[in-house]
Amino acid sequence: MSQHDTQREMPTLGMGTFRLKGEVAYESVKMALDVGYRHIDTAQIYDNEAEVGKAIADSGIAREELFVTTKVWNSKLSPALFMDSVHESLEKLGLKQVDLLLIHWPSPEEGTEMAVYLKELKRAKELGLTRYIGVSNFTIANLKEALEVLTADEIYTNQVEVHPYLTNQKLREFCQQQGIHITGYMPFAVGKVLSDDTIIKIANQHQRSPAEVVLAWEFAQGMATIPSSTKRKNLESNFASLDLNLSDEEVQAINKLDCSDRQANPGFSPEWDQ
Ligand SMILES: NC(=O)c1ccc[n+]([C@@H]2O[C@H](COP(=O)([O-])OP(=O)(O)OC[C@H]3O[C@@H](n4cnc5c(N)ncnc54)[C@H](OP(=O)(O)O)[C@@H]3O)[C@@H](O)[C@H]2O)c1
Repeated sequence: MSQHDTQREMPTLGMGTFRLKGEVAYESVKMALDVGYRHIDTAQIYDNEAEVGKAIADSGIAREELFVTTKVWNSKLSPALFMDSVHESLEKLGLKQVDLLLIHWPSPEEGTEMAVYLKELKRAKELGLTRYIGVSNFTIANLKEALEVLTADEIYTNQVEVHPYLTNQKLREFCQQQGIHITGYMPFAVGKVLSDDTIIKIANQHQRSPAEVVLAWEFAQGMATIPSSTKRKNLESNFASLDLNLSDEEVQAINKLDCSDRQANPGFSPEWDQ
């Protein structure tokens, strides 16, 4: 991501926090920071920004060592609500600025047009509320529309569901052509792929865990990824994936597991590119 303008880029491995609430969110983020994670992914709708912020503050880790992402929810995309919601996120997180601010879904509840909310997103960066901006759950059609408002260079990432059972190949190819980095979410399909025979076989050959193999598969294809875990043992195992290299044959064998098994599919979601 050399086209961006500051030194501190997004670490390829982040800690996801979807579903983590209250004390569990606080303890999990605290443990992740202790294990060595420096990239934390939250969102307004996760209802844990305050706990994430407290864990960050209590960790004592210098702000400039961390990369914190949050996402603006569907009900906050109108110009009347957008910026106040970002200020509220920052207040809960106890930060003056996030590193990355994403549009969570291309699905505004108020029907706000994309050009309008993307201009708000850009304004949040101009106001210094975030260092980078990006999108999430954007399909090829959504990205084409977005590229009429923002340059590809301004879109730091498209955060989308990517795991061995949903490789999202078409969208990834489009993003690669445009130079838009992919962050793969739900890398384990919420645990489903970890009992897959092919993945277990590759894991055994490397004497690593299935989870490490899945994360190494994401890295091998140039993606960042943000698994979540509430357990130190799993956080450590996931962190250890950073030095696991898979062969091209292993990457291709995992790519063949794709069966369009989508996990995140709320009613307001666009159809994924097939
Ligand atoms: N942008 C979006 O719309 C969007 C949508 C969904 C998710 N996300 C982001 O992506 C993140 C990851 O997705 P996710 O949390 O839904 O699913 P996930 O990371 O695919 O899976 C999490 C599950 O895997 C288990 N796990 C983690 N590490 C493990 C290991 N080493 N061995 C065995 N099990 C392990 C966890 O259990 P334990 O807690 O017991 O370890 C948890 O049940 C979210 O937290 C969120 O930040 C973004």
